[in-house]
Amino acid sequence: MSPETNKPDKYLLYQNSVQNPVYEVNFMRRVYRKIRGRSPLLLREDFCGTAVLACEWVRMVRGGRAVGVDLDENTLQWAAENNIARLGSKAEGVELACCDVLTAANYESDIVTAFNFSYCVFKEREILLSYFRKVHETLSSAGIFFLDLYGGPDAQVIQEESREVDEEGLRFSYVWDQADYNPVTGETACHIHFDLPGGNRMERAFSYDWRLWNLPELKDLLREAGFEKIDVYWEGTDHSTGEGNGTFRVSRKGDDSRSWICYLVATR
Ligand SMILES: C[S@@+](CC[C@H](N)C(=O)[O-])C[C@H]1O[C@@H](n2cnc3c(N)ncnc32)[C@H](O)[C@@H]1O
Repeated sequence: MSPETNKPDKYLLYQNSVQNPVYEVNFMRRVYRKIRGRSPLLLREDFCGTAVLACEWVRMVRGGRAVGVDLDENTLQWAAENNIARLGSKAEGVELACCDVLTAANYESDIVTAFNFSYCVFKEREILLSYFRKVHETLSSAGIFFLDLYGGPDAQVIQEESREVDEEGLRFSYVWDQADYNPVTGETACHIHFDLPGGNRMERAFSYDWRLWNLPELKDLLREAGFEKIDVYWEGTDHSTGEGNGTFRVSRKGDDSRSWICYLVATR
């Protein structure tokens, strides 16, 4: 709860409905070990927001350290007071940098992440390319870049979809609102609302002004930025429901689902 308003805190609602840091730490360690034959230690979480992934990294990885980069000072303050403060003696393993990912210092990293499609804030090809070049430069010689993407025909439709969440004593609905899509530029405007018990809506708790890139464009840009190999990890299907089953494997062919999420793994 936020002490000022007595309403649930929007960052807590976000973390409990959008993020799954334990899954992502396990996924990245598995993929990194498979490719490099050793365990990664240094994580840089770009667009880190509340740095929940960076915190989970130092909690789960023995000897692991993490840097979270974000340009929003208030979000980073929340991260420090909540997620990092809860790490106890491991808190010193997480550093926060309040700056643009395009100009951030070159922290040596085994892994860099750009999750929840945050790089889509870069709408110009040249700017996204300069970001990917910067990531390439900051990674150690055995470094790996992990990012995700969503797509499919439904990603270009103006619509709201909601799902119930019941986590850590919080019950609410998460609403993903695709408010605008421009096929000429690929730009999309999306919002997250939270429907709270008692019929109250936390309207536009988070808003995004993005370009919806597609997979071949991203693969070309990553290659141009210097990455040697780019793998796409596609989600398997639960045949009883027809929905994604939460297991992502390297794939050279996706499927024609109306909406999908995948990971890209770019190897230096
Ligand atoms: C979609 S949130 C991602 C939060 C979290 N990483 C996740 O996976 O859910 C996007 C975050 O990117 C940050 N951001 C946007 N543009 C940025 C930039 N150019 N440099 C650094 N951070 C940026 C915003 O402040 C926001 O916290």
